[in-house]
Amino acid sequence: RAGEPTISTGSLPAAERVRTLVDEAWDRYRHLDEGRLADYIPALARAQPAWFGICVAGVHGALYAAGDADREFSIQSVSKPFVYALVCQALGGDELRARVGVNATGLPFNSVMAIELNEARTMNPMVNGGAIATTSLAPGDTPDEKWEFIHEGLSRFAGRRLSVDPEVYDSERATNQRNQGIARLLQGYGRMYCDPVEATDLYTRQCALNVTVRDLAVMGATLADGGVNPVTRERVIDSDRCQRVLAVLATAGLYERSGDWLFDTGLPGKSGVSGGIVTVAPGKGSIATFSPLLDAAGNSVRGCHATGFLSEQLGLNLF
Ligand code: DON
Repeated sequence: RAGEPTISTGSLPAAERVRTLVDEAWDRYRHLDEGRLADYIPALARAQPAWFGICVAGVHGALYAAGDADREFSIQSVSKPFVYALVCQALGGDELRARVGVNATGLPFNSVMAIELNEARTMNPMVNGGAIATTSLAPGDTPDEKWEFIHEGLSRFAGRRLSVDPEVYDSERATNQRNQGIARLLQGYGRMYCDPVEATDLYTRQCALNVTVRDLAVMGATLADGGVNPVTRERVIDSDRCQRVLAVLATAGLYERSGDWLFDTGLPGKSGVSGGIVTVAPGKGSIATFSPLLDAAGNSVRGCHATGFLSEQLGLNLF
């Protein structure tokens, strides 16, 4: 009936309907000018506020894109669930839970207070402290080996070899004293698992990998597909690991706005300060958005609106 939300059916609607809705979402929100560019990483302040791309991917490999879908941007925090997935695959979910945690902090992504207030310290792999600790657990005896594990694994999620944006990497390396401090603090609490300087550098490099919104959609759809990349058909991680990743995403993917996000979209998602958001509809596919104007928590404003609209119209809400 008109006015009622579309109820989840177990698959995406027919291709033509998805295409129409993706175009409509883009058109609805492209003139929304709320939010601010991230400027604490100088290279990110050079983004154009008008950039806006959307891509929906189905678990059978179909992609539906609108707007700036081929523009590259640094992945930033959207790397966190995928690195978590790869390390989870290597170490197992239980060990990673014991070492990094899975509970939301309710505080900003780079909060030092969250580390001080909570016995578990790192709290979860989606905030900076937990993400740097997760990166420190990447298999490998040297930073180069750890980097190869991360770079190769994220590239398998995307289905193509990703490359680092040198300008973003240098810019963040020169200004990431807060993350260095967080890593050192965690070391003091026994929650950092390799040298904190190396771990912060690896984390900074992983955040500087360039992706497009199409890449993010394929990466998200790999998590929706139980760990199999729907385009390359390669298994990237096992399905039981996938379930763990999605549970943490639902809890903490949008930081202190994670509750609002779940309330609006009914789906696990992850945002990043360059303006990307990936949202996973288990068993069906994913929604990826990119637009660099952010709300106060560091989440893309157009991305939040477009994802809420698409989740409802495509009938993806899990609840
Ligand atoms: O560590 C940082 O501050 C950035 N490399 C990533 C932060 C981020 O994307 C937070 N997301 N909204």
